[in-house]
Amino acid sequence: MASIQPTADIGLVGLAVMGENLVLNMASHGYTVAVYNRTTAKVDAFLADRAQGHPIVGAHSVEELVARLKRPRKIMIMVKAGPPVDQVIDELVPLLEPGDVLIDGGNSHYPDSTRRTRALKEKGILFVGAGVSGGEEGALKGPSIMPGGNPDAWPLVKPIFQAIAAKAPDGTPCCDWVGPEGAGHYVKMVHNGIEYGDMQLICEAYFVMRKLLGMEPPALHTVFDRWNKGPLDSYLIEITRDILAHKDEETGKATVDVILDAAGQKGTGKWTVVSACDLGVPLTLITEAVFARILSSQKDERVAASKILKVHPTSFTGNRQTMVDDIEQALYASKIISYAQGFALMRAMAKDSGWEINNGAVAMMWRGGCIIRSAFLGRIKEAFDRDPNLTNLLIDPFFSQEVARAEEGWRRVCAAAILHGIPVPAMTSALSYFDGYRTADLPANLLQAQRDYFGAHTYERIDKPRGEFFHTNWTGRGGTTASTTYNA
Ligand code: 6PG
Repeated sequence: MASIQPTADIGLVGLAVMGENLVLNMASHGYTVAVYNRTTAKVDAFLADRAQGHPIVGAHSVEELVARLKRPRKIMIMVKAGPPVDQVIDELVPLLEPGDVLIDGGNSHYPDSTRRTRALKEKGILFVGAGVSGGEEGALKGPSIMPGGNPDAWPLVKPIFQAIAAKAPDGTPCCDWVGPEGAGHYVKMVHNGIEYGDMQLICEAYFVMRKLLGMEPPALHTVFDRWNKGPLDSYLIEITRDILAHKDEETGKATVDVILDAAGQKGTGKWTVVSACDLGVPLTLITEAVFARILSSQKDERVAASKILKVHPTSFTGNRQTMVDDIEQALYASKIISYAQGFALMRAMAKDSGWEINNGAVAMMWRGGCIIRSAFLGRIKEAFDRDPNLTNLLIDPFFSQEVARAEEGWRRVCAAAILHGIPVPAMTSALSYFDGYRTADLPANLLQAQRDYFGAHTYERIDKPRGEFFHTNWTGRGGTTASTTYNA
């Protein structure tokens, strides 16, 4: 490698869709990028095609890649999450020096990023676990980037990351340091959970309009076009609008109508739900969204059940335009609930891990570039500006008013869907959460009595200080021995 000049500002391993587009984005901002892919034919194909005319140099081995980099070396890994990331790290580390930076830009599980940050720190290598959102187009034109890991790496990667990131409407880059260890990938995971929630809510709104109001894709396209000009203005509403206008070339039908209703998922939504359970945060909407995908994937079972558990069709007799407007309100209010839950989850994780994730800064990073980008995130940023320690978005003055305004329509949509047998799990769970969150006295008094009755699990009393536990000998047959009191 003696003849190779270290001219590249950054290296990238993994020339799949995201990797290639990130390289082109970096190159278009004036950075020289060295690229490597395990199947080296991909390197040659890229150099001969899309990389032409850009400051991009190829490498046919990890040794060559490392030799092409200026010091301290920065290498971004864009391979499939899981063991492939560790394999690439293991190949690179013996070739690196203390102070070099390794960045994992895939959808890695945050505990892996924590483990890698710690293990690489021992070797003097600065690890960054960076969430990157925005899909193919975002990677090329400006993604939202959520970096976390070894804080010493941030000054070294900040100029490149902030240059290639999307810019919010006020010009702020949609990229900032999230926190130590797995914090970056944690925030990306919650982003994806919220993405699941937004997508499910949009699907429910679409489904109610189709099933209850009998609206066809062209009419739905018009509705989504209108919604995209109001408070729901967002990337996901925009692509839904465009999807609804798309025609299948083979059949001439609306493309959406030829797609099988069995959803896939790669696991980030599930991780979000597991984390919420671990931290004791009611993340009901995203949870329903994950289960809705799972239920959808049981296509054969549903088809069989549909022949036994018949729906009794009833026609809608209300005002159709009012119902469409109500659906917009239901979608908006449910979305507020979803974000309230998602941000509460990040707050809980920040507290539990000591990572000090700044919710306002996260809202800033999500305003542009990412899949959940929306006008709405600007409002969330404003809420955290008003109160950086806000426990729940629902009690922010703006959002509490917005929910109150949308509430009636939201209830009418949930009620109509339930009466007509149309599944809207995310919208109804959001409404139940809202009703639960604002209820000072839930029926858990009875639940505690039940636990104490059958298992002597004890309860607290309303007329005694919190933390004091009591047991009743409910039947007269039990003893006075109570079970230990702990919460999992
Ligand atoms: C993004 C997306 C991206 C990916 C999802 C898909 O932010 O750019 O979230 O990371 O498209 O992970 O997830 P599912 O396959 O689980 O829907």
